[in-house]
Amino acid sequence: MELADIGLIGLAVMGRNLALNIAENGYRVAVNNRTAARIDDFISEAGKLEPQFVPNADLGDFVASIKVPRSIIIMVKAGAPVDMTIAALLPHLDKGDVIIEAGNANYRDSVRRYEELTPQGIGFLGIGVSGGEEGARQGPSIMVGGSKAQWLNAEEVLTAISAKFNGEPCCAYLGKSGAGHFVKTIHNGIEYADMQMIAEVYGVMRDGLGMDPKACAQVFKDWNAGPLNSYLIEISGHVLEAVDEKTGMPLIDLILDKAGQKGTGRWSAIAALELGVPATTIEGAVAARSISALRDERIAAEKIFGTLVEGKVELSIQTLEQALLAGKIAAYAQGFAVMAKASEEYEWDLPLGTIARIWRAGCIIRSGFLDQMATSYDNGIAANLMVAPDFAEIMRANHGALRQVVAAGALGALPMVSLGAALSYFDSYRKGRGTANLIQGQRDFFGAHGFILMDREGEQHGDWPSTLD
Ligand code: 6PG
Repeated sequence: MELADIGLIGLAVMGRNLALNIAENGYRVAVNNRTAARIDDFISEAGKLEPQFVPNADLGDFVASIKVPRSIIIMVKAGAPVDMTIAALLPHLDKGDVIIEAGNANYRDSVRRYEELTPQGIGFLGIGVSGGEEGARQGPSIMVGGSKAQWLNAEEVLTAISAKFNGEPCCAYLGKSGAGHFVKTIHNGIEYADMQMIAEVYGVMRDGLGMDPKACAQVFKDWNAGPLNSYLIEISGHVLEAVDEKTGMPLIDLILDKAGQKGTGRWSAIAALELGVPATTIEGAVAARSISALRDERIAAEKIFGTLVEGKVELSIQTLEQALLAGKIAAYAQGFAVMAKASEEYEWDLPLGTIARIWRAGCIIRSGFLDQMATSYDNGIAANLMVAPDFAEIMRANHGALRQVVAAGALGALPMVSLGAALSYFDSYRKGRGTANLIQGQRDFFGAHGFILMDREGEQHGDWPSTLD
């Protein structure tokens, strides 16, 4: 029997679509799944691609059906299932084989797996794959971390199956172990912030401007043709125009307002906090999902406080568009700042321009302005994205709209968790003289932590007891 070019374990939604994508690109794929029935279902639904697959329920036979040195993609649920799959595979592998872990792993797990497998002669690449079900099938964005030599073995297949932006593959080697999954985590953090800001603007349209879903959908469609052009804006329009077949009502009005979260947004915020990098739009978005989950408490609190203020606002659709643009740039700036710091801290040497470039197609946060971000990073951004010439210009032109929306939200009792965070971030970042002088004074008052005076050398302390009388 002709051996397979690559193996894939895990035929749930992402795995099966990835397997079909690989086969469609002309490779022969060995497939395996813990529940054997799923392999049969997959093969029976593979259609014209069926001859490209080598199905095997037995792990030993599966491994034996792949060309040596083997490349085996694991696409199972993140966490313990990945470790269990690796443990089950190991006895069947030979030195030189490479495991490619493609789930939404925590980057620390990828570092650990790399360190555990390397002494055994087994290679490990941790790859972030973005684009959901459609991306996996048609071409995702792929963020690779691990040993460069092992990347060179897998490069051909991963590049072939990735999304293309103007013919350029959205797949790149980003650094040693952990780098790929870290970048994917931050991608998801930005995704959370982006989605939250869009939801906040939808809240203004629905509750502040009294627009119905159809009218909101049209706004998103129009915006998608302008500077906000992005996948998330596009799908928001589709979600808002969908109608429930049973009731004839807008589907959006029937969807329960409790957001799920699998963990990558939270990991992104945790990484930012650990690295000491402000990522308030992402933190806000994670918190907003958590508040959304407290539905019973929210309903009870609404009974206690009532409406409080008249929620109607006066804002133009253009002001909302500009505010969203400024907010999104602040969110991307935060995500990129986290990656820049992690790169330094973990010696990854992350290519920020390349990251922006491989996010231009295939992934969930693909958007028009990523092309401009890639160019800005390629030209070298000394500090923050918001002060890179092109983006400083956009912030200058749109911060006023962001102020109007956040202020209208505050007065109209419309939550502005991430848009508000974006505005405060911008204002704090661009202020040469902040207010931390008072914090330093307080710290020294209660804990003798010391402070620096701007007109002299060395740490100082205040004579605080003398202020008490
Ligand atoms: C992607 C998505 C993908 C998935 C998230 C959803 O890039 O393709 O981010 O990874 O949709 O895991 O995450 P939550 O369930 O946390 O929203």
